[in-house]
Amino acid sequence: MTVETLLYEGKAKKVYATDKADVVKVSYKDDATAFNGVKRGQIVGKGAINNQMSNLLFAYLSENGVPTHLIEQISERETLVKKVDIVPIEVVVRNLAAGSFSKRLGVPESTPLPRPIVEFYLKDDELGDPLITDDHALALNLATASELDALRAQALRINELLQAKFAACQLILVDFKLEFGKTSDGDIVLADEISPDTCRLWDMETRKKLDKDRFRQDLGNVEDAYQEVYARITAIS
Ligand code: TMP
Repeated sequence: MTVETLLYEGKAKKVYATDKADVVKVSYKDDATAFNGVKRGQIVGKGAINNQMSNLLFAYLSENGVPTHLIEQISERETLVKKVDIVPIEVVVRNLAAGSFSKRLGVPESTPLPRPIVEFYLKDDELGDPLITDDHALALNLATASELDALRAQALRINELLQAKFAACQLILVDFKLEFGKTSDGDIVLADEISPDTCRLWDMETRKKLDKDRFRQDLGNVEDAYQEVYARITAIS
């Protein structure tokens, strides 16, 4: 048996080296954390669902002109992706008020926003991923001004594409988080994942939460919610 080289283990995924220098293998775990790792648990079947759902959405975005790290899915939980240097900025897009936006600004959950909001967060667990401005990102050398513009433009384009996709399966895309990476050629591509771990998704009719908020807020039926979202997406894909 060949011993795999683990390059990195995050809260929800492991990244392994492959025999190609510019390709890595991502393996999705069932582990779930919230509040920067303070709350921990498992969501049975989550790894397989997030891997397959994320790949489906990345393929859809790629068909619509969004460059991504995706190469190919190799099993239920595993995918080959381009090796990238992750840009240490988490890009959040919001269509309705929820989560930290509601808490920080006192806007009730589910208030529609007149236009989508893009926010940047510093990707740093020790600091609790603080919200940052463009000036902070520039001062900390996280990206150039034109890269920040490109991240914002890509995030808004992805929002339009994802909103349409989720609306087709009767889901409201409340908000989501994206990560981008730089390839060896210097191109910035969409990386990480898009799944119920990284999106807030509500049923269009009942507004039932069908995402990781069920885990964060102890709402129960977490596994069912992930399966429901995956079933709806595969049904229209
Ligand atoms: P927030 O309202 O807690 O700032 O979250 C905004 C969106 O980003 C929500 O869809 C959940 C997602 N998110 C992550 O994917 N990872 C994180 O670490 C956090 C805090 C949020």
